[in-house]
Amino acid sequence: MSSLAGRFRELWDEIAPVGRDADSGGYLRYALTAPELRLREWFRAQADLRGMPVSEDGNGNLFAWWGDPGGTPPTGTRDSDGPTGGGAVLTGSHFDSVPHGGAYDGPLGIVSAFLAVDELRASGAVPVRPVVVAAFVEEEGARFGVPCLGSRLLTGEIDVDRAAGLRDAAGVSFAEALGDRPAGADPALLGRFAAFVELHVEQGRVLVDADAPVAVASAIWPHGRWRFELRGEGNHAGTTRMADRRDPMLTYAFTVLAANKEARLRDAHATVGRVAVEPNATNAVPSKVTGWLDARAAEAETLHGLVEAVQAKAAERARRDGTELTVTQESATPLVAFDRELADRLAGLLAAPVLPTGAGHDAGVLAAHLPTAMLFVRNPTGVSHSPAESATDADCAAGVVALARVLEELACH
Ligand code: GLV
Ligand code: MN
Ligand code: MN
Repeated sequence: MSSLAGRFRELWDEIAPVGRDADSGGYLRYALTAPELRLREWFRAQADLRGMPVSEDGNGNLFAWWGDPGGTPPTGTRDSDGPTGGGAVLTGSHFDSVPHGGAYDGPLGIVSAFLAVDELRASGAVPVRPVVVAAFVEEEGARFGVPCLGSRLLTGEIDVDRAAGLRDAAGVSFAEALGDRPAGADPALLGRFAAFVELHVEQGRVLVDADAPVAVASAIWPHGRWRFELRGEGNHAGTTRMADRRDPMLTYAFTVLAANKEARLRDAHATVGRVAVEPNATNAVPSKVTGWLDARAAEAETLHGLVEAVQAKAAERARRDGTELTVTQESATPLVAFDRELADRLAGLLAAPVLPTGAGHDAGVLAAHLPTAMLFVRNPTGVSHSPAESATDADCAAGVVALARVLEELACH
């Protein structure tokens, strides 16, 4: 039988071409578009191969069950007996990508989950509670703007009407893409899970420096997205005197610099990675510029202060430029402190370092509802949300072994 790294490679190669852009080498796997739908078909096929029935939650999330999805509800609850109680142990991640994203962010957690099930079975382990592999929809928010949309819907963390009406760049709503109005919160389904463990590629270089293949997460920084809409006056680039212009591009440029400076002052992160210009013509002063601010910090107060400062500076600059500023918060994720006891237990079990992250994950949303943990797999480049994201097959195999140990610990005793 081939090595685990070899089996990882075989499975990985099945999905590697799906949604890959030949020019950038990055992935265009937006939620519920053709490449992501192909990956969902692949998920069903993998579940089928393993005799794992697949259920959907009406929000676009898929669940493959090792153990009976229609069986009696778990007796264990978070309060009564914690993650080793009666409920199912959930693992998995997401298939969708950011524009020209890396191969590993998301899919690694799903491929590793199926391989961890194989490892457990091969070892003869017998779960006393179901092990469930999940594929959450629209984790990146790259298509509809709100990250972790699937897990937010499942947990009731977003209003269903708002989610249904979110539109992509072509004007297609989430409900239209899903083929139905999303079902929203499903406490009965959520109540069937005793714990969630998401394995993810590391999005930094802590594990490279620590010379370790796998880590356990301690926390996720609070973060959010703010849409800065700047309106001015569209006009001719050649004939409009400089003094007469109301150019929102100037306000935008100043705002981006201010965001960078304010973040540096606070040891926080601020990024404007997306911009839309109207009419987007070389020879026209723009009439409107929209920039999306992604801001993150270790503490909520720092994040709040950062965004307030950027808004104040943008507003002041808008007054000087004669432009109008509207700021809308598109999403907010509070500080996530993962279940400390669980993290410590898994770190002990795996002899792995524990580290916080500035990246958002479905695990961050689910953590408010059930004991949740994350495992990170070393990324030699430390780069993520880019084609340069990477992981060696050997480290991915180490991730599978770690996840299998964790599932054995949580589901088999
Ligand atoms: C998701 O990857 C995020 O942190 O934005
Ligand atoms: Mn991501
Ligand atoms: Mn991810």
